[in-house]
Amino acid sequence: MPLHLIWAEDEAGGIGQDGDLPWRQRTDLQRFKALTLGHAVVMGRRTWESLPFPLPGRENMVLTLDPSWRDEGAERTTLEEVKARSEAGETLFVIGGGEIYALMLPDASEVFRTVVHTTVEGADTHAPRLDAAEWSLESSERVAAQEGDQHDQTFERWAR
Ligand SMILES: NC(=O)c1ccc[n+]([C@@H]2O[C@H](COP(=O)([O-])OP(=O)(O)OC[C@H]3O[C@@H](n4cnc5c(N)ncnc54)[C@H](OP(=O)(O)O)[C@@H]3O)[C@@H](O)[C@H]2O)c1
Repeated sequence: MPLHLIWAEDEAGGIGQDGDLPWRQRTDLQRFKALTLGHAVVMGRRTWESLPFPLPGRENMVLTLDPSWRDEGAERTTLEEVKARSEAGETLFVIGGGEIYALMLPDASEVFRTVVHTTVEGADTHAPRLDAAEWSLESSERVAAQEGDQHDQTFERWAR
């Protein structure tokens, strides 16, 4: 069941503010691209609207409850379709946001979590907590801020 979730959270679990990411972390975006390139990416309609353009080299799949929703560069999908494709052996990445991470976490096999070493005041969207009884930390690497990063960050991989 290769359904992977990928997100970046601050030290208090904040992931978003005013419909956008609350930081600029170039190194994290590079890691995000390297992991997701060539795969389908699944996102909520609000995260889709936060993107400047469809993510290139990836099938952009959008979850919405509006059956008439359409937009250029993306396909509407359903939770059932996402689960069916992952159960058939395809690797898909769920890329946000808060509502969709919480919805899909029970079906996920791995989580790629970046901890951004800051605490955003007024974050309005949060990541779900990873229950230590269900999830184990497989790898963790702290990387100092590089050019284009506002903060240090730790790249983690969690498996169920
Ligand atoms: N730090 C990170 O890694 C990261 C990653 C991604 C996003 N973000 C941030 O997260 C925020 C957006 O997150 P969010 O929680 O507000 O919204 P979201 O999870 O991106 O999208 C929520 C939308 O998903 C649709 N939806 C919800 N349940 C559904 C279901 N059961 N079936 C089908 N569609 C369903 C609904 O769309 P309709 O209203 O159209 O029905 C809902 O409004 C932004 O600030 C963004 O920048 C952060």
